[in-house]
Amino acid sequence: MPENKQPEWLADATFYEIYPQSFQDTNADGIGDIPGIIKRLDYIKELGCNAIWLNPCFLSPFGDAGYDVEDYYTVAPRYGTNEDIAHLFEEAHKRDMHVILDLVPGHTAVTHKWFKESMKAEKNEYTDRYVWTDCIWEEPQGMNCIRGISDRDGSCAVNFFSHQPALNYGFYTQERDWQQPQDAPGPQATLEAMKDVMRFWLTMGCDGFRVDMAGSLVKNDPDSKGTIKLWQNVREFLNAEFPKAAMVSEWGEPDKSILGGFHMDFLLHFGPSHYNDLFRCEEPFFSSRGKGDVSVFVEKYIENYKKADKKGLICIPSGNHDMDRLARLLHGDELKIAFAFLLSMPGAPFIYYGDEIGMRYVEGLDSVEGGYGRTGSRSPMQWDQGVNAGFSTAPKEKLYISQDPKKDRPTVAAQIQDPDSLYQEVKKLLQVRKAHKALSNQEDISFVYAKKDAYPLAYIRSNYEEKVLVVINPSAQNVSFDFDEEGKETIYAFGGKVECDGSKVTAEGQSVAFIRL
Ligand code: NOJ
Repeated sequence: MPENKQPEWLADATFYEIYPQSFQDTNADGIGDIPGIIKRLDYIKELGCNAIWLNPCFLSPFGDAGYDVEDYYTVAPRYGTNEDIAHLFEEAHKRDMHVILDLVPGHTAVTHKWFKESMKAEKNEYTDRYVWTDCIWEEPQGMNCIRGISDRDGSCAVNFFSHQPALNYGFYTQERDWQQPQDAPGPQATLEAMKDVMRFWLTMGCDGFRVDMAGSLVKNDPDSKGTIKLWQNVREFLNAEFPKAAMVSEWGEPDKSILGGFHMDFLLHFGPSHYNDLFRCEEPFFSSRGKGDVSVFVEKYIENYKKADKKGLICIPSGNHDMDRLARLLHGDELKIAFAFLLSMPGAPFIYYGDEIGMRYVEGLDSVEGGYGRTGSRSPMQWDQGVNAGFSTAPKEKLYISQDPKKDRPTVAAQIQDPDSLYQEVKKLLQVRKAHKALSNQEDISFVYAKKDAYPLAYIRSNYEEKVLVVINPSAQNVSFDFDEEGKETIYAFGGKVECDGSKVTAEGQSVAFIRL
């Protein structure tokens, strides 16, 4: 396994996810753009985030909001130009911030020139760039496919939507003639092409990638051995050429992702993590009703933490462009308490734009660019009380997605003015995290109290110089548990009183405390 050193900047990185379409429009076309992101860098910095994950911003037919890439090398004109993004990298670096781009290595758009060439009957450089069967009547087993639109006699596997043909990185085990091994020339060329894409943006100044569906590349690979090997090859390339580049996977299995040379992996709203038990289920743990259960989440977390054998690897996002807004089921103080958890756990925090002000899921929207149910979580940022909440000066009907129509929709401007706002609490929490190394990305965690159907949740974050007990009671009831260490100093508190007297911890309803031991 190649060496996998974390770039130093990741130890204190706190990310802000920007959906470029919906963040800030500067040219009145109703859609966000890169100059808009540059304009808001100081806002992000002031909030306390020092890194950005930018969703795909490349040329695309936008059948999946840009996750259907038509040209990996060109910024989509609606967001600006390659010069604009180079400028964004520069402006971010000036502020000691980092920017990671979204790499979509698993599939392209059907309009990508590779796919157009690949559809041709005559053999060419791109014939093996995608996963094709060798007869139109044969489907790729276990995968959906595109067929009947090419002169080529074959069906092409798709990776996600049916307009996203799967790039060919080979099959771990081959059962049919058309299934190529990983080291065949076609799959090798695909991988080299993807490394070229990475090289291009890293050379321009980007600081790494969030990798879309990172675990999906090699097919017939149930234990991911082939996919891990593929990413190890990428790791060697990065070690040699871009050792400071950060790699964050959308994989959801940190033990595999780390073997593949990633630095961090996301806990996802699908798969085995039980992440949804916390914020997005019928009785979320963070609801004040106090009927949730955190125990299975913690069990899985510990399992992963041990398997991954590396601190700071598991990132728990506040949300993202694929899931319901945090504020769909949680409200008021519940959100603040949820953030106290999100911002005191190991792994880099990832705040989805607008979650810091509790932007709501916009109900009842028509799907935009393949968003479907996700569209309501992708509405334009609410900056102030101005036209279109300061997002754009375009006529309202031209906005990329309709905004939250409610009169009391949260805005950045109002929350900056209000000392009790969610924005202020998130900012405070980020400051506390920064001031106490024990709370930072790569330091230890051990769980103290995480019982089935019970509250609170308690854990200790520690490093060689400090030990911090985190007590989180989202429920409205007073709760307690035995604990024989005495608290020395409370470094953060929210809501009801929390006491740690050397025999037990008691926490009033809806309370949080970070206590130095
Ligand atoms: C995961 C991305 O987050 C999602 O938005 C996209 O639709 C799929 N991957 C396909 O690329």
